[in-house]
Amino acid sequence: MIEVVDKVSGKMPRVVLTHSSGASAEVYLHGAHITSWKVGEREMLFMSEKSHFAPGKPIRGGIPVIFPQFGAGELPQHGFARISEWELEGAELTDDGDVAVNLQLTESELWPHPFALRLGVLLGADSLMVRMRVKNTGSAPFPFQAVLHTYFAVEDIRETAVRGLTGVTYVDDTLAGNPREVEERQEIRFSGETDRIYVDTPNKLSVNGVTIEKSGMPDVVVWNPWIDKSKRMEDFGDDEYPRMVCVETGAIEPPLTLDPGGVWEGSTVFTASRR
Ligand code: BG6
Repeated sequence: MIEVVDKVSGKMPRVVLTHSSGASAEVYLHGAHITSWKVGEREMLFMSEKSHFAPGKPIRGGIPVIFPQFGAGELPQHGFARISEWELEGAELTDDGDVAVNLQLTESELWPHPFALRLGVLLGADSLMVRMRVKNTGSAPFPFQAVLHTYFAVEDIRETAVRGLTGVTYVDDTLAGNPREVEERQEIRFSGETDRIYVDTPNKLSVNGVTIEKSGMPDVVVWNPWIDKSKRMEDFGDDEYPRMVCVETGAIEPPLTLDPGGVWEGSTVFTASRR
């Protein structure tokens, strides 16, 4: 079932997807932001209780869509896609019973380049597929980065493990000079602030019981703000960091370039383990 819920509820417009298996997902037109993915009763995504839901501000938690800039730069932090109002392009039930929705963004007053950005979401019984597609609709090349900044809900960050990044080079954004190191561990565990861009990673990894399989998205960011940074974030509770970890998939390092008429596509499939 696909239901478009508008401002009547007092919130911003969003699309609610419900699968016959009991799985569900919720996508806001603001940012094309997925704020909930449930497999049965189990919420897979973390949402901050302090999140804004307001024009011009990012939502904290869920799956922010980062485009065309990751991190700080000329544009607002993490680009404009997550703070823009997207259009609902279409929604359908597929032949095999999955629930699909497409959203698009085709202009921003913050960027001079003509583009078409589409986010496709496909809800399965125990999986969620998210696809980003960028087209250069202008007459000059443009550079971009594109990331799904997924916040996973975890029971305890100290018991959380990210697997699949052994031997991968990462940029450590918590250290001065952002040194490059090689990940030696079989599983990444957390005992302090973690903010790393793993460059050119394998396409299959996992966080706790969730498998992450990506295509066209070479890089992975692993982030937890821990204690001090949590306190500095006004839209994130001081005591929320133990219940989340971001494992972000995308194209960051180096940025990509699209020629006029060119199309880039990247996707990530999250699959929950049965339990
Ligand atoms: C991560 C970055 O992707 O996003 C972190 O690596 C950053 O450095 C985090 O703090 C959250 O960013 P924001 O803009 O949503 O507070």
